Amino acid sequence: MPKTRKIRVNLRGAPRSYDIVIKDNIIKELGPRLSGLGFRGSVALITNPKVKRLYAGVIIKSLASAGFKTIVITVPDGERYKTLDEAAKIFDALVKNRFERGSPIVALGGGVIGDISGFAASAYLRGVPYIQVPTTLLAQVDSSVGGKTGVNHPRGKNLIGAFYQPAAVYIDPLTLKTLPEREFKAGLSEVIKYGVIKDRAFFGFLERNAAVISKRGPAICAAIEKSCALKAWVVSRDERESGLRAILNFGHTFGHATEAASGYGTFLHGEAISIGMVMAMNLSVSLGLCPAKDAQRVAALISAMGLLLDAPKISHAKLIDAMRLDKKVSGGKMRFVLPRAIGRVIVKDVTVPQIRRFLGSLDRA
Ligand code: NAD
Ligand code: GLY
Repeated sequence: MPKTRKIRVNLRGAPRSYDIVIKDNIIKELGPRLSGLGFRGSVALITNPKVKRLYAGVIIKSLASAGFKTIVITVPDGERYKTLDEAAKIFDALVKNRFERGSPIVALGGGVIGDISGFAASAYLRGVPYIQVPTTLLAQVDSSVGGKTGVNHPRGKNLIGAFYQPAAVYIDPLTLKTLPEREFKAGLSEVIKYGVIKDRAFFGFLERNAAVISKRGPAICAAIEKSCALKAWVVSRDERESGLRAILNFGHTFGHATEAASGYGTFLHGEAISIGMVMAMNLSVSLGLCPAKDAQRVAALISAMGLLLDAPKISHAKLIDAMRLDKKVSGGKMRFVLPRAIGRVIVKDVTVPQIRRFLGSLDRA
């Protein structure tokens, strides 16, 4: 009997709180689980062709067994399809099928599908419920939880969207078996992130289990559970990122700039974040905020997980320009999440000359 792990995301306005349920083969129980949430009638299953081939069949069967009619809507695979055009096609399909207000959307896939489906759910008929069924590690530990939904604009990622919480998150760790190695590794960087920002003991657990986790051994379930619990804790306290939630952006300022300056597509998001985390740790050390040995431990864990990538050779000017375009920049200062130690971070403004000095010191090292 597979073990069930349950985490509650508590939000103000009680009906909006929801459970994250982690269980092997949970996708085979989706029909009864949606009935249990009080849904009846139709379900719109949004996915991409690859994930549809792998997992839609068992889900449709389970939904049918519980009396649901399933409308399947596919979005082409890839970040470049996380667009308003594709969202419009989702709306067209929902309208064509006369999809009604009380009926739920099920987002089956990685972060791309989760973000665009959540966005469609937030806007269609001024909001229909949606369920996240994340199938990448990144989506299971991060993007499916917390209600950030949206699509990209040609001028920037995630510029259009809404905070809109799911009605439930159902995580089936067995779906990770088919995930390409590079995608799995990229997801691990978000897992490491939680240890650095909030939980030194969890970081130690990851260090002790790095070999098993990076081979997708059983400890991955505990790592998913802890990551979700840490994210739920943060989101419960600051749903709309007015303060605390910003700590989830650890590694993102350097990471996004690296992604943008090296050309989107060179790095997966999680790979760029692991580069960004190492840089942010080292920046914190250079500002005298964090012991060097903690920065070494973070780099060592990233390496043990098979994720240590050399930061690409990008000119300082180009990197700083890319950072200036980041959503986290205001008044010429750049906002960084900086560790004081593993498990404890602060959010701090850093000036451009300080960044220049830091980047210069990396060149001399
Ligand atoms: P993705 O959704 O593009 O999925 C990666 C690849 O894995 C795709 O080719 C997909 O088809 C494939 N795939 C998915 N599940 C699979 C499975 N079980 N087996 C085999 N292949 C599978 O990428 P991602 O890394 O999951 O998500 C990245 C997106 O998430 C970005 O758009 C990013 O902006 C977003 N994101 C959102 C949040 C949030 O809070 N909403 C947080 C972090 C990232
Ligand atoms: N992934 C960052 C957040 O959800 O706030």
